[in-house]
Order: sequence, then structure tokens, then C-alpha cells
Amino acid sequence: MRSFHRIKITILGTGFVGTANAVGFAELGFDVVGFDTDVRRIEQLNAGLPPYREAGLSELLERHLESGRLTFVNDLSLAVAHANFIIVAVGTPSRDDGSADLSALHIATDALSRTIERRSTIVVLRSTVPPGTSDRMAQRLPSGVELLYCPEFLREGSAVYDFLNPDRSIVGAESQGAATAYSALVEGLVAPVIVTSRSDAELIKGGANAFLALKISFANEIANICGRLNADSHEVLRGIGSDRRIGDAYLKPGIGFGGPCFEKDVLSLEHVARGSGSPSHLLQATLRVNAAQPRKIVDVLEEELGVLRDMQIGVWGLAFKAGTDDVRSSLALRVLEDLVERGATVIAYDPAIIRADLPHGTTLVGSAMEAARADALLVLTEWPEFCGIDPNDIARAVRRRIVVDGRNVLDGPALANCGIRYRGVGRSSLPEYAEYVNVSARPA
Ligand code: UDX
Repeated sequence: MRSFHRIKITILGTGFVGTANAVGFAELGFDVVGFDTDVRRIEQLNAGLPPYREAGLSELLERHLESGRLTFVNDLSLAVAHANFIIVAVGTPSRDDGSADLSALHIATDALSRTIERRSTIVVLRSTVPPGTSDRMAQRLPSGVELLYCPEFLREGSAVYDFLNPDRSIVGAESQGAATAYSALVEGLVAPVIVTSRSDAELIKGGANAFLALKISFANEIANICGRLNADSHEVLRGIGSDRRIGDAYLKPGIGFGGPCFEKDVLSLEHVARGSGSPSHLLQATLRVNAAQPRKIVDVLEEELGVLRDMQIGVWGLAFKAGTDDVRSSLALRVLEDLVERGATVIAYDPAIIRADLPHGTTLVGSAMEAARADALLVLTEWPEFCGIDPNDIARAVRRRIVVDGRNVLDGPALANCGIRYRGVGRSSLPEYAEYVNVSARPA
């Protein structure tokens, strides 16, 4: 591993983006200082304890706290002293009107302006922001300090892997010198570097997330049509995605996209489009489809049970996707609220969650089979653990033998073979279907 003793990178913010950048740049050989105002978070990170579930984070924290290339502080002057690059990775949540709340960014910018000593320091904004934000931020920084906008494309749960294996690095710059300096920093990532203006880079980030969200809403629409026509959404979307012009990534139907990024980023771009006088019907539709999707799976369950009032529903999965313990904007929670509103009670299990603020009427249990002892079972997160459970065990546990799979991850025909009515998102394998499969498979 190379060592760049003279280059110091400071990271402001130790959320999942900031922390992945901190361990990632240390792994690339740089000296890294992570800063946060949260004292407990700093103590935790310096003790090598990941603040949340993230594959590979624990190993790299341990390796680079030990190598001395990584340290975390909560003193801003100490953090920025002698820094060659300061990476800003603070949160930009949604406001009620859909616009991005930039208050944490403004606080960070003002604090930096008071603290930066070296005029040669390059500030690199990585938070997702609306176009024009970094140009305005540049005006608030001391003159001579360069600002770049370099978006990240990190997925929670695989953020460390994504940092080290990007498809491309986008460098939004207004000066060739700063662009060249940052390009050298990410040289070890062996990915193409695309240099653009700062506001184009901001639009690349917003547009990329909006397109991924659009693909998911499209997949959900197609799956909903499949459901009405008794077609199999899995087969249909596999066929669509196998066209290389389309690609199969982000075409998995489910309960909709959740998590702290997609909804917020599409809302923000939609807000920007409206403000520009060119409202985006496509982005609005993406959000509308997503908002309606969680209800659809509850409708399927209600259709199967006849009524939800006084039913006990087992739920597998609460996190907004597998591989994370994050329930922020998890659509599983919207499904839970809907179930409770329709009069059901819920026993829920998620392998990554031991505590969560769940709607009244929901009990969190410690194993998948405990949650399965209910009238019907509903899958809301695609944890691999669920796919490994014997369909016979599921059939013995679920009292009314109904399984509704909001992520299309279980083996429908195998469940149907055990006498279960299986419904997914735009797909079903009913016992009659299993009978048909068995008959067709029988030797003549
Ligand atoms: C996303 C972007 O992928 C990343 O580039 C960005 O910087 C941050 O936001 P993240 O939200 O962590 O990452 O997760 P991602 O894996 O993209 O999934 C987002 C949501 O979409 C999850 O709820 C997931 O279950 C859902 N999803 C994803 C689908 O429903 N179907 C799919 O095919 C893919």
C-alpha cells in the first residue's frame, strides 16, 4: 500500500458517506482526520467501533487506527490545521416543500471560513445538493480557497466497497489546478475521472439518483400490471432487463424505494425543476408510484385474508434494504402503519434490528420463526436469511398458510408445494400451480 505522508485529508461529518470516505482515503494511503461535533460518535470511532452496520467498515477502521493514518477529533481547528483537502459530507435532508435543507452545510461553511488558515487548501463538497449550491458556497469561503463539487455514489451497506470501486469519479471544478489535484487523489481508484463545472456535477448526482429511482418505479408499475394480468413479473422484468440498452440493475419490484437518499433527492430535483419553470412530470410520477406502492402489498394481503381486522401478521424485515440496520424512510414502516390502521396486529423480525420506534400494535421478536407464528406472513426486506428457511417450517408456522412476499425473494413454487398460498409483487404461486408443476414434471 502506498503512503502519501505529506497529504492530509480532513473529513467533516461522520455519517455513512463521511466515514466511508475516511476509511477509504486512509486505505488509499493518505493521512485522514475525521471531524464531527458529536463527541460520542468521535469516541466510538476512535475505539474502532462502527456506529452502524456497514460491510468492511470495522476491518478498515481497525487497520487504519492502528496504522496511524486515521484519527477522529471533535476540535475543528485541530481537524483543519495543515489539511491539503477538506471534504464536506454533512447531511442535506428534505424540507416540507421538497427542497433540500442546507442549514448544516451553511454552518459547516461558516465554521470553515473562520478556521481555514492555508489559502492552498482545497475544499471538496460531497453532500448531495441542488445545482448552484457549491457556487454559492464558494463565495462564502475565504478568497483563494478552491472549492470542488465531487458527488458520491455510495450505497448504504456497501459504501466502503463502492468508495474503493467506483464506476467513475465526477470532479466539478472551476479551476484546472484544483481539478488536477483532486484527480491525483483518486488516481488509486482506477476509474475514469470526468471533469465538469460544479453545477453540472450537482446535476449529474441528482440526475443519476433520479434515474435509478425512476427505474424502480417503472419496475413496480410493470409488476403491478403483471399482477392484474396473472403474469409473472420476475420473468417479464428479467426479459426486459436482459436488453443491454436497458440493463437489469434497479429493476427489482418491491414495496418501493426507501432510505434516506432516493426520495429526498428526487423531491429536491423536482423542486428545482419546478423553480426553473420546467416542472418534471416524470419525477412527479416516480414519487407518486413510490408513495402508492407500500399500500399495494397490504391490499394483496387483505385480498388473501378477506379481512385484516383482528388478524395477526408476521413481518420479516424492517430495514429499508438488506445489508443495513437503517430504518430511516423505510417503506416497511409505512406498511406496518397501514396494517395497524386496517386493524391488524404485527409481530416483526429483522436480523439487523434489535430496537426501533415501531407503530403501536407491533411487537419486535428475536427470530424469523417466532414472527412466522402468525395468521399470515409478509416479507418486507430481502435478507438472504429468509431465503434459507425451509418452506416446510414456514408452512407449519403460518396458521392460514398465506405468504405475501413484498420483495419477490422467496421460492414461490416450493412454498406452494407445501400448501402455501404465495403472492409476490406481480407474481403468484398458488397450490394449484404447484400441482400443475408437479404433474408436468412427472415422467410419462
Ligand atoms: C442510493 C444510491 O444508490 C447511491 O448511489 C446514493 O449515493 C445514495 O442513495 P441507498 O439508498 O443506500 O443508495 O440504497 P440503494 O441500494 O440504491 O437502494 C435504495 C432503495 O431502493 C432501497 O429501498 C432498495 O430496496 C430499493 N430498490 C433498489 C428496489 O426496490 N429495487 C431495486 O431494483 C433496487
